[in-house]
Amino acid sequence: METLLPANPKLGYLAHKKEIDAAIQQVLESGLYILGENVSQFEEQFASFIGASSCVGVGNGTDALIIALRACGIGPGDGVITVSHTAVATVAAIDVVGAVPILVDVDPAMFTMDLDKLEQTLKSYKNCKIKAIIPVHIYGQPLDMESILEIAGRYDLMVIEDCAQSHGAEFRNRRVGSFGHIGAFSFYPTKNLGALGDGGAIVTSDPQIAERARMLRQYGWKRRYISDSPGSNTRLDELQAAILRVKLRYLNPENARRRALAAIYSHELESVELQVPREATDSVHIYHQYVVRTTRRDDLKARLSSNSIETAILYPVAVHDQAGYKSRVVVGSGGLEETERICNEILSLPIYPELKDEQIGKVIDVIRTW
Ligand SMILES: Cc1ncc(COP(=O)(O)O)c(C=O)c1O
Repeated sequence: METLLPANPKLGYLAHKKEIDAAIQQVLESGLYILGENVSQFEEQFASFIGASSCVGVGNGTDALIIALRACGIGPGDGVITVSHTAVATVAAIDVVGAVPILVDVDPAMFTMDLDKLEQTLKSYKNCKIKAIIPVHIYGQPLDMESILEIAGRYDLMVIEDCAQSHGAEFRNRRVGSFGHIGAFSFYPTKNLGALGDGGAIVTSDPQIAERARMLRQYGWKRRYISDSPGSNTRLDELQAAILRVKLRYLNPENARRRALAAIYSHELESVELQVPREATDSVHIYHQYVVRTTRRDDLKARLSSNSIETAILYPVAVHDQAGYKSRVVVGSGGLEETERICNEILSLPIYPELKDEQIGKVIDVIRTW
């Protein structure tokens, strides 16, 4: 029996194989493999898709966050607020630039940052100057960016949206990544817009930030071989950009298919003792993950697995509880009780645009008889 995977990037390639193969062939024959037409075209198209004026392609989503922080002038000794219920990359990026990650709890129904606890932390934290906030639109669920911008304005904070899981998600008819000073994206293969290798980008409508990011991704160069500022090397390559240009054309219908699948799950699982995802008001959730919650999570995972349905846990251990980061982060006001509790209760069911109706039907049947 064919095993269902929680995500299946190979099917994402096969769905557009002809166009992707042609795009790859074009790059191979062009002889130009770094920072050519494909990268510049993709940057233009992605900026316009998000609704920002600039996009700078980089090597991966973690580098997108690092570049975003540096381009916003965040460095050693500065405080940056984010959540502990996220990919370790969010916190790692803050740590890499020498800033202090201050982690606040999440809303147990939405899985995104609890804005009351954000305010409490901003009011009470005195050990260093908090300079920025990184809201994470986790699982594809957009945060209330208007409230975040209002809070950020009062406390004079830079806002860097972590959009690694939210390509195309909307709040009040605007795409996430276009609200903050910068949006940082990952094109890791399983993402809603995924490359066939590593890739990432920042988007911004601030020309100075865009210029700094462009320099930071390549040795601080404005002109080739001449560094005006320190930098590193983290470029999106032509092959990945060519693939992303093809896949970007299908992102809207593929996000719509994910939403349709999520609606089927939520409707059919209504009678089961599970917490299904809730969508925030005025938002378009794009279901990078479809995450249910139950205190019998491990049992449900095992039952699905014994029926050839694999699931994922994003994330099994919160960042502040991981050995590598425990002593390098600060816990925000009100603690991280919800974050710790959800780690043991969340489960991502299979969701990807190519998932067939009969396949989702089978997942639902197994859960209903569980
Ligand atoms: C929320 C979040 N932030 C950042 C990243 C980092 O992206 P990458 O794996 O491309 O470095 C990821 C992806 O893993 C992510 O899910």
